[in-house]
Amino acid sequence: MTQVALGEDGEGLGPNEEFTTHDDVDTIGDLFSEHYVGSILHGGSSGPTQDGTEFVSGLNDLQEYNVENTDHGVPFIWGGDALHGNCFLDGCTSFPQRLNMGATRDLERVEAAAMHTGESVAAMGGHWNFGPTADLLRDMRWGRFFEGHSEDAMLLGEMARVRARGFECHDQVAATVKHFSGYGTPNIGNDRAHVRTSLRDLRTRQFPPQERALEEAKTVMVNSGAVNGKPAHASEWLLTTVLREHYEFDGVILTDWDDFDRKISNHEYVPDTEDGWRRAVKGGLDAGIDMCMCGAETPPTRFIETTIELVEDGEIDEQRIDESVRRILELKRDVGLLEEPYADETAIEGLVGGAQDVSEQLAKESLVLLENDDGTLPLEGSEEVLLTGPGVDNGTENRFLMQHGGWTLGWQGVEEGEPTEDGPRPRQSTIAGELSDRLGNRFTHVPTSFEADPYGTVQDFENGRFDLTDEQSDAIIDAAGTADAAVVVLGEGPHNEGFGDRDRMRLPEAQQELVALLADELDDEVPLVGVILAGSPRGTDETFQHLDSILFAGQPGSDTGVAVADVLFGEYNPSGKLPFTWESNVGFTPLFYDDYPPRQSVGAEDGMVQYEFGHGRSYTDWEYSAVSLSTNTVESPSSKPTVTAEVTVENTGDIDGEHIVEVYNTKSYGSVLQPHRRLVGFERVQVDAGDSVTVTVELDLSTLEVVPGDVPGTQPKVVEAGEYELSVGDRTMTLTIGQTEGISESEAIPIPHADSTENSRTARNLLALFQ
Ligand code: BGC
Repeated sequence: MTQVALGEDGEGLGPNEEFTTHDDVDTIGDLFSEHYVGSILHGGSSGPTQDGTEFVSGLNDLQEYNVENTDHGVPFIWGGDALHGNCFLDGCTSFPQRLNMGATRDLERVEAAAMHTGESVAAMGGHWNFGPTADLLRDMRWGRFFEGHSEDAMLLGEMARVRARGFECHDQVAATVKHFSGYGTPNIGNDRAHVRTSLRDLRTRQFPPQERALEEAKTVMVNSGAVNGKPAHASEWLLTTVLREHYEFDGVILTDWDDFDRKISNHEYVPDTEDGWRRAVKGGLDAGIDMCMCGAETPPTRFIETTIELVEDGEIDEQRIDESVRRILELKRDVGLLEEPYADETAIEGLVGGAQDVSEQLAKESLVLLENDDGTLPLEGSEEVLLTGPGVDNGTENRFLMQHGGWTLGWQGVEEGEPTEDGPRPRQSTIAGELSDRLGNRFTHVPTSFEADPYGTVQDFENGRFDLTDEQSDAIIDAAGTADAAVVVLGEGPHNEGFGDRDRMRLPEAQQELVALLADELDDEVPLVGVILAGSPRGTDETFQHLDSILFAGQPGSDTGVAVADVLFGEYNPSGKLPFTWESNVGFTPLFYDDYPPRQSVGAEDGMVQYEFGHGRSYTDWEYSAVSLSTNTVESPSSKPTVTAEVTVENTGDIDGEHIVEVYNTKSYGSVLQPHRRLVGFERVQVDAGDSVTVTVELDLSTLEVVPGDVPGTQPKVVEAGEYELSVGDRTMTLTIGQTEGISESEAIPIPHADSTENSRTARNLLALFQ
């Protein structure tokens, strides 16, 4: 039940090497032969080596030591964070980050990327991948916004589901749905803070995406934060009542990094004493946790000894331990470890840097064209082009550039320690490299200063250090005089977790200055194109007003250069759609598209949103004509949970393109508030210029479920009878639901009020009143 982080203090994989992370264990081999550790991890996508063959051979040796020197002979299971490709290895394919995946709406390709990742993790000797993240996004200030796929629960759930299935496709790797639950909406966007939510919000927005992903995943990782005042790692309701009993999940529940300790250090939930620690462990095991991830703060023997004591003192039943051990053994069996503990040492080499076609196509599909005044883009390709901005070329300072984001050859997505010119990099094409190849001597590149700065503090933090020197300004002024077009790359550096939290949305000052300088120096007719590389909505109108076109590129990973260049020169017609709401100002966060009305303060409707969820422009024009439903009335939603919409979409422009057809519920009335707008189905389609195509979009009626009843929100979820306006662009249809019925819940999630001694009679009476 113990998972130990290796490599925190630089140790390798050799069984005789000193275990340097904590001093309670002498050698790495002792973890197994003396302490019966069942699992190890390398946190943050950083192993002891970035060479795949060396890694797998080291892991095999350690496994052999474990199997031969423990009397049980059960293999350990290795886990890690291969979150946008197997980004542990030098030369890896860094697939577009999760936010980009959400923008593609392309479930098939996202799954293909996950399949390659799963295969590659297995070839590395790993059997556990700590993804997909299925944390609902709402607040751009959160340092893990780039990991979230979407603020829409259904889109997020579908992405997470196909990714879990992809990771597990060969039955050699277990996927992890994380972080259960509510982790994505921490207070003021601070990582691992507590979340203020409600039963209604949990049941309609936070749980459903995780529930979808659970269908395909063998394991769950718990939210490091607290939910409505209860640490998730101590919540029996979350982990047992909801996860085990209601969702019937019988896989392994893993803590997050040091999270029993965090009940002391972070939550101030138990005191920093032996007894406090004991309560932290007992509370976690009672709540339903199977395995404790011991990171840099938790000496493994501390967890092991405390657990044994709790059993010996009769505070935890031995059967409870047996249950967790059974689940862990079943996990090892299901990923094939009991049959074959060792990995083929030759398989990994052929996989590193692979699936380029998938990665390239996903990267292109993920780019969102925010603005394109007067058809500025695409460029003709014959122009003299000035490229400037931070973080777009290879070089020591840039390290991993701005195109990859966190969990890329390291936790923060940068080379830790002293950066080196030639040292590990993902396989990558850069924007500067691609433009230079395509434009030859019609290309001028003036890079501005950027240094990754992963450990800045929220107060002075720009997610990187950016500067515009006098020399750079002069070079830009020079080049601006002869340029026919200018491309300025803006955004933020790689970041992760609490170190990525920020208090601002606007671009760093040096970037604002850069844009203002370009706007001043370029002739009026010379287009100024902004490309934003960021893991969150980064930028406000004070900068955007100067740009003729804006491409939100997110963090597209390895194939950024090709994807961006293809869009700039019209070889790919942009098709991505924002998977989140882009507020106009950080003061309006968190503002999300499917909140209850009034979503915006009365009298201030205008100007709060810069770009809506689903926004994304194209080089061509799209028109919808015939729209119809497979049926206009669904008498019983529980027996008919999906209907289809047929939509004829015409490409009325003169450029071929791809288009995402989205069907929203835009009006409905019931016993409680309905969201402002909600996505019920989507489909990506390719249409040649001048052609039209009829698309069938499956509509998932469970997206229309609400929790009826008064404020506490305890009743079973239902789709309420009534009329639902469904919209595709400017076309609408009406779906009538005949009977109020539930789809996803046959009964409500049990609420522990009635039989709890903590709850007074008054509370019970109050609840009765509400129901
Ligand atoms: C993160 C997890 C991750 C774990 C192991 C934690 O800090 O919250 O998402 O899986 O580290 O690297």
